[in-house]
Amino acid sequence: MAELSRRKMLISGGALGALGALGVAFPARATPWTWASSGSIAGAGAGTDPRWIWDEEADPLVASLIDRGAVPEVNRLLWNWTRNDQPLPAGLPADLRDFMERARQLPSWANQGKLNTAAEFNKSRGLYLNLLNGVGGGMLSTAIPKEALSVYYSKGGADMEDRVAKTSILGFAVGALNAYRPDGSCVVEAVKTRLVHAAVRHLLQQSPHWTGDIPISQEDMLVTWHTLPTFAMRKMLEWKVPISAAHSEAYLHVWQVTAHMLGIKDEYIPATWAAANAQSDQILPRNMGPTPEGVELTDILLGQLAEQTSPASISRPLCNALARYLVGDQVAGWDGIEREPVWDLLIPTIWPKLVRFREGLIPLPLVPETAWVLDEAVRKYILFYLTKAKETKIEIPTTNRPG
Ligand code: HEM
Repeated sequence: MAELSRRKMLISGGALGALGALGVAFPARATPWTWASSGSIAGAGAGTDPRWIWDEEADPLVASLIDRGAVPEVNRLLWNWTRNDQPLPAGLPADLRDFMERARQLPSWANQGKLNTAAEFNKSRGLYLNLLNGVGGGMLSTAIPKEALSVYYSKGGADMEDRVAKTSILGFAVGALNAYRPDGSCVVEAVKTRLVHAAVRHLLQQSPHWTGDIPISQEDMLVTWHTLPTFAMRKMLEWKVPISAAHSEAYLHVWQVTAHMLGIKDEYIPATWAAANAQSDQILPRNMGPTPEGVELTDILLGQLAEQTSPASISRPLCNALARYLVGDQVAGWDGIEREPVWDLLIPTIWPKLVRFREGLIPLPLVPETAWVLDEAVRKYILFYLTKAKETKIEIPTTNRPG
C-alpha cells in the first residue's frame, strides 16, 4: 500500500470520519441476515447467512489445480473454448472436466423465451446498460471494501485496463443477442469466471495484505450482482425510461440465470424485483464504505475513462461529474471523487433531457448542445472496452498482485 498517495489517504480518512458521524459501523457487519428465502428462485432455503458460504464445488477443485501446477495448461486448453455449444477441449484434468460439464448446464428454470426478450431489451437499452454497469457498477464496486481489496491485491489489480476489459467480456456476453443461445458465449464466460473466483479465494488468503475472511462469499457475490441489474433497473426507472413489464421481467431473468451460472445458490437469487430490491437494501449498506485502495482504484478507473473520451481539458471533470451523478454524493465521497463546479451542475440537467430525447419524448431543439459531448463520451467509452474485450480472454490466475 506504500504507493497510495497521502492525498488519497486523507480523502479516504475524511470519508471514514463522515461515515462514523452517520453512526455506521465500519466494517458494517452488525445487521443480521433476515432476507426470506421464500422470495428466492428456489422458493425455500435453510436461511443460512450467505456471508459464510462460498463455492463448495469449485473452491477445492481450483485450489488443487493451482497447488498441482495444472492451471497454465488448463488456461491454454480453455483459450479457444468460446461458444456455449462447444464441447470442452480434450486434455482437461478429469476432475475439472466433470465439474465444468455440470457447471455449464443451464438451470431447469431458465426460460428461452424470456432470454430472447431480454436480448431485445439489452439491445434497445444498450447505451444506458453499458453506462450503468460499466461506469456505475465500477464506481460502486470500489466503494465495497471487500471487493476493492480483492481487486486491488489480486493479480488483475496491477493492470486495471486489462482487468476492466476482462470483466467487460462477461458484461458484453450477457448483453449480446445470442447470450445463452448455442452460438453465444455467456455460459463459457460465466463458468470461466466461476473458476477465476475460486482461484482468487485460494490465492488471496496467501497474500500478506489480506487479513479478512475467505473472499467472495455468496453474500459478496449478491452485493456485486445488485450493483449490476438492481442498480441499473432502479436508475432507468428514476430516469423514466419506459420499460414494459415483459422487458423488466426478462432483464431480471437473464441476470438470475447469470447469477446461477456464477455459482450463486438458487435460495439466494431473488425471484422478483421486489425481492431483489429488499435484498439489495439489506446487504448493500452493510457492505459499503471507503478504503484507500478503493479511492486509488477509482482514480485509476476515472483516469482511464477520461483518456478514452473527449479532449483532455474537459474530459476528467466530465468523467468525475458523470460518476458522481450515477452513484450519488455518499458513494462519490467514499470513492474520493473530486467535486466539479461546472459539470456537477450540468449533468443532472442535461442527462435526463438526453434520455427523454432518445426515448422520443422530446424533440431535438430541447436538447442542449453540451448534452452531445456527454453522449459522445459515453459512446467512446463503450466502444473502447468493446474493442479491448475482444482482444483478451478470461484466464485463471495463479498469483496475486506482485509486490
Ligand atoms: C474476476 C465478474 C463478484 C472479485 C472476475 C471476472 C469477471 C467477474 C467477469 C473475470 C475477469 C478477470 O479475470 O479479471 C463478476 C460478477 C460478479 C462478481 C458478474 C457478481 C455478480 C465478485 C466479488 C468479488 C470479485 C463479490 C470480490 C469481493 C474478483 C476478482 C477477480 C474477479 C479479485 C480476479 C481478478 C484477477 O484476475 O486478478 N469477476 N464478479 N468478483 N472477480 Fe468477480
